[in-house]
Amino acid sequence: MCGIIGAVHMKGNIASILRQSLKRLEYRGYDSSGIATVSEGTLFIKKDKGKIDDIHHRLNFDTLPGSIGIGHTRWATHGPPSKVNAHPHTDCQKRIAVVHNGIIENYQELREQLQANGHRFESQTDTEVIPHMIEEALSHTPTLKEAVAETITQLEGSYAIVVLGTNGKELVCARKESPLVIGLGTQGVYCASDVPAFLPMTRKTIVLEDHEVVHLTSNSALMSRIDDTGSLAPLPIREPTVVKWTIDMAQKGGYPHFMLKEIHEQPRALSDTLRIRKNDLEAFAEVLHNHKNILTIAAGTSFHATMAAKYMFSHIADRLIHGVIASEGSDTVAESLGKDTAVLAVTQSGETIDTLHAVKHLKNQGATILTITNTVGSSITRMADSVLYTQAGPEIGVAATKTYATQLATLASLSISLGTMTGAQTDKESQELFMALNQFPNLIQAVIRNQESQIKETAQQYITKSNFFFLGRGISTSTAMEGALKIKEIAYVHAEGYPAGESKHGPIALVEPGFPIIFVAPNDNTRRHLESNVMEMKARGAQIISICSATDQRLIDLSHHAIPLPELPSKFFSPISYVIPLQLLAYYAAILRGHDPDQPRNLAKSVTVL
Ligand code: AGP
Repeated sequence: MCGIIGAVHMKGNIASILRQSLKRLEYRGYDSSGIATVSEGTLFIKKDKGKIDDIHHRLNFDTLPGSIGIGHTRWATHGPPSKVNAHPHTDCQKRIAVVHNGIIENYQELREQLQANGHRFESQTDTEVIPHMIEEALSHTPTLKEAVAETITQLEGSYAIVVLGTNGKELVCARKESPLVIGLGTQGVYCASDVPAFLPMTRKTIVLEDHEVVHLTSNSALMSRIDDTGSLAPLPIREPTVVKWTIDMAQKGGYPHFMLKEIHEQPRALSDTLRIRKNDLEAFAEVLHNHKNILTIAAGTSFHATMAAKYMFSHIADRLIHGVIASEGSDTVAESLGKDTAVLAVTQSGETIDTLHAVKHLKNQGATILTITNTVGSSITRMADSVLYTQAGPEIGVAATKTYATQLATLASLSISLGTMTGAQTDKESQELFMALNQFPNLIQAVIRNQESQIKETAQQYITKSNFFFLGRGISTSTAMEGALKIKEIAYVHAEGYPAGESKHGPIALVEPGFPIIFVAPNDNTRRHLESNVMEMKARGAQIISICSATDQRLIDLSHHAIPLPELPSKFFSPISYVIPLQLLAYYAAILRGHDPDQPRNLAKSVTVL
């Protein structure tokens, strides 16, 4: 995944605006970046390997001249991170520059044809074919827009592109399966992978659909739709949406890292999400109710939310759901299983390609698609028959935190609503469950307020440990797995999240004196059996760290360290509060080891490659 931006201003230099926009897109990729501008008919480019601030320190992006330009922050797919592979890429005559997010699947054939026609390539990227194809097209088409249209009809794969030509007055952008949003400001016009890129300049946005091409000047954004032959049909003027996000919401708000800010935002994110309209929830639940099979599709943290949902749906709504990891989706579900199946795709970004592919596969087989996502206008929303939005606001840290809490809250609400339909819950019981759920914003506020400093100390105490187990039973297995994922991805500490009962069937062989094991141990019906697992590990010299109820004195006494949490208003929703200490532990483990939790190595916020 990469971040792209294009901007045309009426006057003044655009370079520093593009640089700052790229900073706000850096969560999408950060192994190299670059900016191209045009002034007096000449293209100027600065790009390099590394993060934007470091490159800026070396090259000073802000001295690029001109009031029109494009920028890119990269997460490598084709070709390693390097200066030549950094975007923007150009044609042979250096008259066209292109930034691209996505993957051109047929780039090898296109490149060979272009090379046979005499084009010279500098990089190993798939993207570089695009400026050369536009260069070819411009030899027989009158306008940049038409040359772009002719080019993109030949591309297979996914793309959001912005194209800059040396006439210095126009940009052309287009999308297919990768996000692109237009911003209409008073000083000029913008296009970007995501709204925060241009939020300081404007809140007026238009989300582009697949196969739309936009011609941007400093005071216009003319939209067209392209057909398979490359013909462009003008689209009627679309009213912009005014986004409510403030720039503050999209930035760190005084916290040292986005991740910490986002952990602290969870009470607010949760209450906003719990304000979900009853009718929307019921309409969604009804679709589930009317299908024989319910299949969840999700990746990573979102998959852990669906694991928890499996318990909620079973215990609250008497419905069994099948949880499938997105990357396995199209291989797991046989072709005959589409009909009578409701697919519930959970994805904060709405752009995870594994999830999109699995959903597309199931949709083609006749399944009904429902989705829970945090991102308005994302690709999944266009595939789905029905959408429920979580209200986490923008999540910039690569590690999912507040989006996880809001997914859990939405899935919990849905299971209650479904429970009333299936008859598993009386109206009174479901009301009580909703009341319990509504106590969680305050509850997690208290966990953060009362436990953060103790968790930081715990992280310090285990700083020398390089292996951890995270164990839980029942619904807490998903919490344990999420805790392990968090510490792996941002602190680079090896951890296994496992069902506690299953741990004796192999993993226990790794336990030796001093081995740290984190038990997720709410006071629910798993608690009694979990104690046996604690004893088994303790007998082998493990260091026991328990996340448990403050009233569970027995477990507190058995543990070497305990993080006591407030009593649960309902045992069905324990992941919402029990994951908080694990998020904080991972955060402080990363900080104490000197790692940047917002931009862990090898990862990107949403993974748009298979
Ligand atoms: C979470 O911390 C990870 N960065 C990752 O596992 C993520 O949850 C996964 O890639 C799915 O993303 P999505 O919710 O945007 O689909």
